[in-house]
Amino acid sequence: MSGNSTYTPSSGIEKWLDERLPIIRFSKEHLMDFPTPKNLNYWWTFGAILAFCLVVQIATGIVLAMHFTPNVDMAFDSVEHIRRDVNFGRIIQGTHAVGASMFFAAVYIHIFRGLYYGSYKAPREVLWILGVIILVLMMATAFMGYVLPWGQMSFWAATVITNIFAAIPIVGEPILQLLRGGFAVGNPTLNRFFSLHYLLPFVIAAVVALHIWALHVPGNNNPTGVSVKDDRDTLPFHPYFTMKDLFAIVVFLIPFAWFVFFAPDILGHPDNYIRANPLVTPAHIVPEWYFLPFYAILRAIDFNILFIDSKLGGVIFFAGSLLILFFVPWLDRSKVRSGSFRPLFRPFYWLFILNFFLLMYLGAQPAEGTYVLLAKISTAYYFIYFLVILPLLSWIERPAPLPASINEAVLAKSKSA
Ligand code: HEM
Repeated sequence: MSGNSTYTPSSGIEKWLDERLPIIRFSKEHLMDFPTPKNLNYWWTFGAILAFCLVVQIATGIVLAMHFTPNVDMAFDSVEHIRRDVNFGRIIQGTHAVGASMFFAAVYIHIFRGLYYGSYKAPREVLWILGVIILVLMMATAFMGYVLPWGQMSFWAATVITNIFAAIPIVGEPILQLLRGGFAVGNPTLNRFFSLHYLLPFVIAAVVALHIWALHVPGNNNPTGVSVKDDRDTLPFHPYFTMKDLFAIVVFLIPFAWFVFFAPDILGHPDNYIRANPLVTPAHIVPEWYFLPFYAILRAIDFNILFIDSKLGGVIFFAGSLLILFFVPWLDRSKVRSGSFRPLFRPFYWLFILNFFLLMYLGAQPAEGTYVLLAKISTAYYFIYFLVILPLLSWIERPAPLPASINEAVLAKSKSA
């Protein structure tokens, strides 16, 4: 990590501790003095918002686990018991359920910010890759958490999604049985999902620590994409960005609290308030909104590709849609980081965002007629964006003139305002 410590222990005990475990020095260097580009906009507050979300999910989750019973005969009732009988249970359970949605909303904004400003480019590739690992872990955690209340959607989502693994040749069937703990979704499934759902957030927390570490080596990117040149480009993290992040968290809490207090169930599916019944399949099995774009990609492949049947094809495209994110730093070869100075990149980027929301919409529709056709086109654009457009733009694009430094960009902006 960059060592620019100005810390001098102010008492004997501080000096004693500093020689043994320099935790105060570390905190001062990384939480207070850390030089941060002074032109960061509000899209850069989502990292702190995400850290806040993780803490909220872990804190509320631990309390929920004290009252939850991971048994197929009791899980559904134990969640009802939390909501009705446990002190503040309605708020704690509501915060955890709404919190999952807020967490994903924030993570998508955080990723789209990175894609726009080229934050994945050198020297931040490892930081980006760790982010993609976090995203995959978040998806696994959210999926397993959704199964725990053992409602109709819990049961059928678990059945449909674990079934995906059966499409993988040779190892698919053993993996499926390992995941389910048997031939069908049942009590062993619920038990292992509860165990893993409790474990994974702590794994996420560990990867987040690496993520921040990998951030603090090169430092933040910024809206111009121009690297920090000297002290005039930066401000200390505290108090400037601690206060800005705190303010953003408070603003983020407004819609969060609105959902918790006024519409805690609106983001969920009504069928999940019906106890799981393996004998009754719901008319439409729909995942939570944050999985819909990837679900749409999974379903879009309803045709065989050479010797690959449609089911395996869907799984390959689904996995590919996440795997491709790991390679973005090498697919986009443009020397210019920020989309603000890439006029040709911008329309394709915004089309990508629009396309992501279209996929989200299509994932919630029945897999028939025009919806399937649109899902195929949308899926194609998702992959073409990364595999064709980004590499091609690096060759043909003429970027706009870049500011000489962050400081100069800030001065120019304040003059024009
Ligand atoms: C629990 C989830 C996550 C947490 C707590 C988290 C936390 C943070 C924090 C605190 C920052 C610095 C402030 C900021 O730039 O907003 C940051 C930066 C960054 N994160 Fe994340 N992050 C998470 C997930 C992700 C994911 C899923 C990705 C990408 C797939 C990602 C990619 C990045 C990148 C590229 C930066 C550097 C931004 C820049 O300086 O321009 N992060 N993250």
